[in-house]
Amino acid sequence: MSAKLIDGKAIAASVRAGVREKVAELTARTGVRPGLTVVLVGEDPASRIYVRNKGKAAEEAGIVSHQIDLPAFTPEKELLDLVARLNADDAVHGILVQLPLPGHIGEAKVIEAIAPGKDVDGFHPMNAGRLFTGGVSFLPCTPYGILTMLDHEKVELKGKHAVVVGRSNIVGKPAAMLLLSRHATVTICHSRTVDLPSVVRTGDVVVAAVGRAEMIRGSWIRPGAVVIDVGMNRNAGGKLCGDVAFDEAKEVAGAITPVPGGVGPMTIAMLLQNTYEAALRRPGSG
Ligand code: GUN
Repeated sequence: MSAKLIDGKAIAASVRAGVREKVAELTARTGVRPGLTVVLVGEDPASRIYVRNKGKAAEEAGIVSHQIDLPAFTPEKELLDLVARLNADDAVHGILVQLPLPGHIGEAKVIEAIAPGKDVDGFHPMNAGRLFTGGVSFLPCTPYGILTMLDHEKVELKGKHAVVVGRSNIVGKPAAMLLLSRHATVTICHSRTVDLPSVVRTGDVVVAAVGRAEMIRGSWIRPGAVVIDVGMNRNAGGKLCGDVAFDEAKEVAGAITPVPGGVGPMTIAMLLQNTYEAALRRPGSG
């Protein structure tokens, strides 16, 4: 093993402790306790666990957390009406509608119904657009977590080549924009990129967010590169693994995130950070 392990669990714990302190200070100064409402539609077991973990972490940070469970057959209109009520509720600073939604509900329609100032997921087109144009926005939690880890590890991004593998709206595209904002030269590639290994090999920083178990091999990694693995998959043996073949890549990379214990814990930590920021910027706070 030559690579330094980037300990997402430890970095997330320090972000969470920081949020807890800032929340306590905000509450002492203004009497406002940040409030997060998470909406879960249907019975997806993985979503249920994610949502429970988000609620628990919020409470630990001093954030008032509410969970609203709706049955899978909830009409779209009912969910949109609920979002409108939460938008109008001054005690709710952050709204998160857990994805995926049942097929009969339009995800984009629901995301666009959330007030951009309460969109702690950073998924609303207003926030996505501001990430592109440089305005104040909520950053999507996973890319925000990636940047926070890179900062924590003091990884120099200016002038470096960052290769992002994956082009989702939730991870790949926003991660690329954030790296660009830090003056990295950014390449976004994906499953149809010709000769993907050669492109990945040019990366000083590699962000893997394709959702395919251990697709990125050690031989694709430039020696000394910083490898951030966003994947959360099961390999053929049923073991939890990332998008990067960790055992190979750790012999080549300069630093690497493990799965689990890398990017995963950062996502919740940044959700808490966004909820604090939403409460800080709430309407009427000046
Ligand atoms: N489903 C999986 N990850 C997420 C997330 O970060 N936010 C929401 N709203 N749904 C998700």
